[in-house]
Amino acid sequence: ETYADKVQRNQAYKKLDEGDLAYFQSILEPNQIISNNEDDLAFYNEDWMRKYRGQSKLLLKPKTTEQVSEILKYCNSNKLAVVPQGGNTGLVGGSIPVFDEIILSLSSLNKIRSFDNVSGIFKCDAGVILETADQYLAEQGYIFPLDLGAKGSCHVGGVVATNAGGLRLIRYGSLHGTVLGLEVVLADGTIVNSLDSLRKDNTGYDLKQLFIGSEGSLGVITGVSILCPARPQAVNVAVLAVDSYESVQKVFNDARKELSEILSAFEFMDETSQILVSKYLKLDHPIESDSYPFYILIETSGSNKEHDDEKLETFLGNAMENGIVLDGIIAQDETQLRSLWNWRENIPEASQMQGGVYKYDVSIPLKDLYGLVEAANEKLEAAGLVDFEDISKPVVKAVGYGHIGDGNLHLNVAVRKYSKEVEKVLEPFVYEWIQSKKGSISAEHGLGFQKKNYIQYSKSPVEIALIKDIKHHYDPNGILNPYKYV
Ligand code: FAD
Ligand code: MLT
Ligand code: ZN
Repeated sequence: ETYADKVQRNQAYKKLDEGDLAYFQSILEPNQIISNNEDDLAFYNEDWMRKYRGQSKLLLKPKTTEQVSEILKYCNSNKLAVVPQGGNTGLVGGSIPVFDEIILSLSSLNKIRSFDNVSGIFKCDAGVILETADQYLAEQGYIFPLDLGAKGSCHVGGVVATNAGGLRLIRYGSLHGTVLGLEVVLADGTIVNSLDSLRKDNTGYDLKQLFIGSEGSLGVITGVSILCPARPQAVNVAVLAVDSYESVQKVFNDARKELSEILSAFEFMDETSQILVSKYLKLDHPIESDSYPFYILIETSGSNKEHDDEKLETFLGNAMENGIVLDGIIAQDETQLRSLWNWRENIPEASQMQGGVYKYDVSIPLKDLYGLVEAANEKLEAAGLVDFEDISKPVVKAVGYGHIGDGNLHLNVAVRKYSKEVEKVLEPFVYEWIQSKKGSISAEHGLGFQKKNYIQYSKSPVEIALIKDIKHHYDPNGILNPYKYV
């Protein structure tokens, strides 16, 4: 599916010409420009889900903040539309062009700037890959306060631009708390620098917060300063099986009380998500004895292995004794620990391996959270569109998993192909369902293109008007990431 059938090109934007190209060639090296070659541009024009495809003819890779500033200044004066792009792992069609927007890739702006091993403050360029940042910090005994399945490709700037949540938000909190400062280039080329900010700084509005989660619509993030905690010395991972969604909630409640300060992740996965991962990895599930309706992944992180082991074992012993947990496994070494995480982190890949996936990333009060997966499957079944085995049906199944510790469900509808028929059954049904439970239509992936027409399900008209005001103030010509949610 291209998304150009849903929106018209805005003719106010200039079409790229030879003169523009000559200007960019005058400020950048040849290896910082990809133009006109469809094959070389293909990766940057298409999103991770292979659901949306743009038609940009030009990609620029600035190496310095000053180059970003020169590019934007020129684009703003000439009304050339621009889409900022990090690792292109975003899941709402926000990181790629819709029409012929210039792709501004941050991938060559990728230097670690500094690390203070007393305060734990880490500063880097936006284009540093998340895993590279975390490996650097590991060598210093520290950890990046955010982790997610796309860590090998996504950028530090990209996760800040989306305000990604990830696997350990329950422990380290949101980027709105851990990011201390940003360097941002505004649409007109102005460089705003708050990288020197301190842990505490109440001098007026906290402007950086506006850019965290702004999805490339307000400015281009070029540098990030973030507070990193000490790397835990002892880490345990357990995967548990339970018989109902009620039991998932019960285990969560108990884990918070009994594991308290050492709990660092609490993820849940339904049975079908694990069957799909099993097919994808071509492996048997670590809990081999039987198949269960729900699985839970618990991670603990602390400073004293013996203390943590004892706490976790007591907790699991009690949970099995009182019959809530039916089966379980605790990783015995680093390899097993990684492999247990794989059963969680590979769900996104596994759920789209048969052709595609419709993704809904939602916050819903815990008691109703899994109800959305059941409602989606019922709706798809009633329309005769779903069958796990029958390849003549477009939908394989709707699966549910996610960061239950944060009240965040991922509803992934695994499909054999993208189709209007399936989309019509799911939308606006899913958004109406979420609204009826007073949830949010985007917990952590943002709105991008996918949810541009649905923002009103989670924001009031007054809030939407304020968002538009801010956008207009920072980007009066609307050159930054157009056709998306603002
Ligand atoms: P991109 O995809 O390139 O861009 C995302 C958005 O940010 C776009 O709107 C783009 O215009 C903008 N942008 C990017 N860089 C900049 C910049 N420097 N300045 C201004 N705007 C910019 N998300 C979660 O929250 N939690 C998860 O657990 C999680 N798991 C994931 C697992 C997988 C396998 C995948 C593929 C994705 C996952 N995501 C998750 C989605 C998540 O949004 C991205 O992985 C990440 O936040 C995007 O980073 P990126 O560098 O790839 O940005
Ligand atoms: C995850 O938590 O794995 C991602 O945010 C979910 C997704 O791919 O939908
Ligand atoms: Zn997630």
